[in-house]
Amino acid sequence: MKKASTLSLEQMVESLQQEKEALAQQVKRLIRAEGKLYEYQEELDAQLKEYEQLYDFNRRLNRLHDLQSILAETVSYVIDHVGFERAICFARDEESQSYQVFALEGYYDPAEKAAVTSITLPLSSPCLSSLFAGCDYLVCKTDRHHKTSCRAESQEMILFQADGSDRRLAELGSSFLMKDYLIYPLGSPALPQALLVVGNCENATFYRKVDGQRGTVLALGNLAGVVSWLIEHRASEQRYRQLSEELERRVQEAVDELRQKDKLLILQGRHAVMGEMISNIAHQWRQPLNVLGLVLQELQLTQHKQGLNAEEVDSFVKRSLAIIRQMSRTIDSFRHFFKPDREKVEFRVRECLENTLTILEGSFRMQGIAPTLEAVGDPTVDGYPNEFIQVLLNILINAREALTARKPAAPQILVRLFSEGDRTVVTVADNGGGIPEEIIDRIFDPYFTTKGPEQGTGIGLFMCKTIVEKNMGGRISVRNVGEGAEFRIEV
Ligand SMILES: Nc1ncnc2c1ncn2[C@@H]1O[C@H](COP(=O)(O)OP(=O)(O)OP(=O)(O)O)[C@@H](O)[C@H]1O
Ligand SMILES: [Mg+2]
Repeated sequence: MKKASTLSLEQMVESLQQEKEALAQQVKRLIRAEGKLYEYQEELDAQLKEYEQLYDFNRRLNRLHDLQSILAETVSYVIDHVGFERAICFARDEESQSYQVFALEGYYDPAEKAAVTSITLPLSSPCLSSLFAGCDYLVCKTDRHHKTSCRAESQEMILFQADGSDRRLAELGSSFLMKDYLIYPLGSPALPQALLVVGNCENATFYRKVDGQRGTVLALGNLAGVVSWLIEHRASEQRYRQLSEELERRVQEAVDELRQKDKLLILQGRHAVMGEMISNIAHQWRQPLNVLGLVLQELQLTQHKQGLNAEEVDSFVKRSLAIIRQMSRTIDSFRHFFKPDREKVEFRVRECLENTLTILEGSFRMQGIAPTLEAVGDPTVDGYPNEFIQVLLNILINAREALTARKPAAPQILVRLFSEGDRTVVTVADNGGGIPEEIIDRIFDPYFTTKGPEQGTGIGLFMCKTIVEKNMGGRISVRNVGEGAEFRIEV
């Protein structure tokens, strides 16, 4: 009985001892776990801080527009917040097919700075090929025995690895004045616009280590991502700007060319009516020339019969001069018409109408047409008077052609001039049968004619529209009224 109770006491002590052990183990584990937790907490805090800094950096960056300042801001950020000793940014130069230093930051003495600034990296350099192959970064380290090892990584995949004695990579590092360094491509992965090199020189103990640790990779990877996005964005903005400028320039050129063509066409149109004009001049001169001939015959007759005294000679000269003056007035109104209008001037519309009717008087009279002018007031408008006369001539000649084709019993052309609000309106109506509704929408189109190649080019009304609407900012329209067509010009 006694033995049994001692045994159970021993057993109890033993099991207590075991429990104590187990508890002690657990406490140890807990303490370890707590330590880890603190580590994680610290790491998280550090990461949060880095994200905040990156956020501010991103905001500063977004205000920048040129590559130079974006890269300068980037190297400052690396030194101030990521904690490396030195940082260099290279930018691609198309002309020399190389990367050239655009910005550097960190501790460099003046001689070192000058040396690093003059580095150029040819695009064809073998050290860069793994970057162009799409890796996220290249990390190079030199150990105590001066052996350089290098890795190019892309999303956890190693694209390239050189161990031991890659001289070129060691040389590259020494040209940067860095023992260990990382290179990040910035911009489009296929052909980065820029490169970011960060690293430390020989005895850099206070700085962040160049290694493949998560914190470093995250910090630099995020930074490179932000900068790359902005560089790409700015590049496409610039491409867009260049394109739209180019487009604007081409549109302007096309518009100028069209203007030039319009001008030429108008001038050609004017020469086209020249034939019409000459026959009109001839017509208008026929009568005064006849009279002049009669005066001269009379002069001769008088001289034969009774001789001429001074008074009679004077009277003959006066009469002849009056006729010649009238003839020269006629030709003046034609002459002005052929001068191209250079500048907009204020002109009286009524005077233009009267001049135009004078020019056409002869040929209209021949066809038994006597146009009527009804004018209210004497409005003036800004524009090109000769071009305006050209418009009136085209419309009046069209009306005459319609009348000679249709031959109404009493051919009529009524020209009216009046004001409507601040606009001046001229209408020309005839009784030549009007314009068929199926073509009325097309008569202002270039080369639209119903007259056949011998008689019409179809340019007349197109030119009228160009002159009135493009050159003078007015409107021209047509409708059928009564027995014929009515053209309306508003300026
Ligand atoms: N007063 C009118 N009455 C009837 N039809 C007209 C009248 N004015 C113009 N048209 C129609 O409009 C068409 C176009 O006129 P437009 O002056 O542009 O050319 P066109 O007179 O045929 O040739 P051109 O270039 O030699 O003047 C004419 O062919 C004609 O069919
Ligand atoms: Mg015509």
